[in-house]
Order: sequence, then C-alpha cells, then structure tokens
Amino acid sequence: MSARKKIPFAGPSISQKEIDYVVDGVKNGFYENYDQHTRRLEKAVCDYLGVKHGIATHCCTVALHLACETLGLTQGDEVICTDFSWVATAYSIDYTGATPVFVDIDPDSWCINPEAVRKAITPKTKAIMLVHTFGNPAEMDEILSIAKEYNLKVIEDAAPSLGAEYKNNKTGTFGDIACFSFQGAKIAVSGEGGILVTNNDALFERASLLASMGRTDSQAVFWSDMLGYQYTIANLTAALALAQVERIEELVKMKRQIFSWYEERLKDVPGIKIIREKPYSRSNYCYPSIFLENKSRMERDEILKKFREENIHARPGFPQMSLFPVHQHRFPTPVTQRVSESGISLPAAAILTEEDVDFVSKLLIEQVHA
Ligand SMILES: Cc1ncc(COP(=O)(O)O)c(C=O)c1O
Repeated sequence: MSARKKIPFAGPSISQKEIDYVVDGVKNGFYENYDQHTRRLEKAVCDYLGVKHGIATHCCTVALHLACETLGLTQGDEVICTDFSWVATAYSIDYTGATPVFVDIDPDSWCINPEAVRKAITPKTKAIMLVHTFGNPAEMDEILSIAKEYNLKVIEDAAPSLGAEYKNNKTGTFGDIACFSFQGAKIAVSGEGGILVTNNDALFERASLLASMGRTDSQAVFWSDMLGYQYTIANLTAALALAQVERIEELVKMKRQIFSWYEERLKDVPGIKIIREKPYSRSNYCYPSIFLENKSRMERDEILKKFREENIHARPGFPQMSLFPVHQHRFPTPVTQRVSESGISLPAAAILTEEDVDFVSKLLIEQVHA
C-alpha cells in the first residue's frame, strides 16, 4: 500500500513568472547586468513597503547581524529580545558581543510582550529586537513608545511577515531597521535570501558598506575602510525573490485562505486556541498556529507523531532561546515555556487544498479529544 499523500508544512507557489525571471537571470544576469535583479528586488520591496532603502542579502540571519552591527551594538550592550523565535533572532545579537535579554510573549499573538520589555530595561539597554511571529504583527505602538521614552533602537525581525500589516502600515516599516527572509519556508521564497530595509539614510550607507566588505575604493581600487562582510544576495537568487515579491498580495491571499479553512473547522473546538490577528492588524498567516490548552509537551508530541504517521508535517513551538547553552536566562518566561510545550504550527504550504486542511483538522480534533 502506498503511503498517504504528503501534506507539507511549507513550500512556495511557483508560477511561470518565477521560471521566466530565473531563466532571464541565467541568460542575462551577468556582465553589465550582474546586479540587475538584485536592484529590481530591492526596489520592489521598498515600493511595496513604502520605505526608502533596501539591501538584499544572502539570508535574513545575516541581514539581522548587519542590522545589529550597523546600529553599533557591541560587548556590554543589552538588547531586549523575545524568548520565542528561531534562534537566528538571538544569535544575530550574540555575534556582536552584545547580550540578548530574553523576555516573555503575549499568549494571544506569540509576539514580545511590551510590559515585559519595559521591566527588562537597564542602563545598558540599547535596543529592542522584536519578531512578527509567524506573520502576526507585534504591538508596535507600545514598543515604539517604550523605545522613544528610553532612547532605544528598534530592530524588527520581520522574517516571515512580508505582507502583514499593523494599523494599516506594513510590518518592516516601524523600526530603525527591519529584516525579511526569503528562505524556502517563508511566504515569498528564493531558497535562501533576505533583505534589510530602513528609512534612515545614514544607517543605509553604513549597512551597504558593511554588507560589501567595507569596500570604498577610497585610497585605491579594492580599498576597504572598515571590517565588513560578504553578505549580499546572488543576482540569480534575487531573480526568483523578485518574481515572488511581485506576487506578494496573491500569496498573502493564499495563506489567509488556508488559515480560514482551518478557522472554520477549529474555531469551536474545546481545548484548541487559534492564534489570530488582532482586529487592527492583518496577519499574513505564514504559519497558522494553535495552542493546545490542556495538553502537556508529551501529549502534543504524540499528536505530531500521529501526524507524521499520516504524512502530515507540522511543527512544535520553538524552545526558549534563553535556555540555550550560550545564553543567560534572566527573567522567567512562562508563556514562552507553555507555547513551546503545547504550541503547534499547522501545515500551510501553498499547494494545500481545502481537502488537505479538512484531513489535518479532523485528525487534530480526533487526537485532541482522544
Ligand atoms: C523569526 C526568524 N528570524 C530569522 C530567520 C532567519 O532567516 P534566514 O533563514 O533567511 O536566515 C527566520 C527563518 O526561519 C525566522 O523565522
């Protein structure tokens, strides 16, 4: 008997546009056009978001590191950071020698809790690193007001959130710097890829230099005036990302459709809490997620195991980054701990059908009540 059709966790929608752009990149993206798609990608993202500057990068992790370096974070500085994320968020701070100070999340959005941010501020605090978790916008009004009060920089880890909005403004337009990912599981993909965006001219100049080995040619051709990094994106990769970014509204619609299929089926199920956008936000629902109110980590993991047996790929909540060996756990983060134990992100690959969502939902309900 053949195994049941795979229901993947994530994966892109690839149309003829992506194929055409990549072929164009292969055929024409060299010689005088070596950075043509990169420049077009940067412009497309900036135009879409309504920001001034973009630097496309090899991935979002290096864009976040670039953001931290550009803001001058260094040893002795503290950066208040959500405890719930993929570790790239925290390691991008660690790379600079600064200390991430982990704080808890809001149980309804899984984004950083502004009150917890306020309580974690010390004279060493230099910046706030927030994440628009799984495409759900963080509470930007509160975060920006705290940042203003204490003169802190704000970095938005907007990795999965292209197309999400907070009070009618796109995520990635609020902080001093924001970074998006085009990694293969995101809403717009290029395999690996990312972009740093900012409205600040000076930060853009500094980030551009840092991202291209500090090369200025000031004293001679190939002269470099600061320790920099080779963080720029490949033109061919940018060609694929560009096609996806040009389709972003269509991709958001697709993700929101998948979310609404889940919502219809799971909304009244006791024991399942759906993580929803706030009334004033638009989530891109990159990874539709739920919280199992009465389940332990072991019971949640049993459900994920059952899913795998049926060829359904879902993800557990992230572990607390504050517990990783290189980190310090300064504040209790009980909500992060509970989400880590009992959270699930459901499959939302672009190729999913309503029947797939129905199958996943039925199995989930059965398991939750088993
Ligand atoms: C919140 C968050 N930050 C950063 C990253 C890193 O992105 P990349 O894989 O493009 O380096 C990811 C990717 O999964 C992410 O989810």
